[in-house]
Amino acid sequence: MNPDDTICYCYHVPLRKLVNFARRAKPTHTSRMTECLGAGTGCGWCIPFLVKIARDPESLGSVDLTPETYAQQRKEYIETEPRNTFGGETKG
Ligand code: FES
Repeated sequence: MNPDDTICYCYHVPLRKLVNFARRAKPTHTSRMTECLGAGTGCGWCIPFLVKIARDPESLGSVDLTPETYAQQRKEYIETEPRNTFGGETKG
């Protein structure tokens, strides 16, 4: 994934914004990533990726997927249950 690629499709939040937020805020709990433009508060798909970014914001490679694969997996995710939650991440 590149810095301008979207991580949270529900709120159109790119990787770059999330990384900058994590660097600045140094979230003590990964759920604080939602304070970055509401990322993670929609379908929940991006939560495991938000957790990775929160834990290691310096690694842009923490999302090791092509944008196309990421989008396809998200499409499949929104058609299934259960949903990802902070503290119970099921994907990534
Ligand atoms: S893609 Fe982030 S909450 Fe849906």
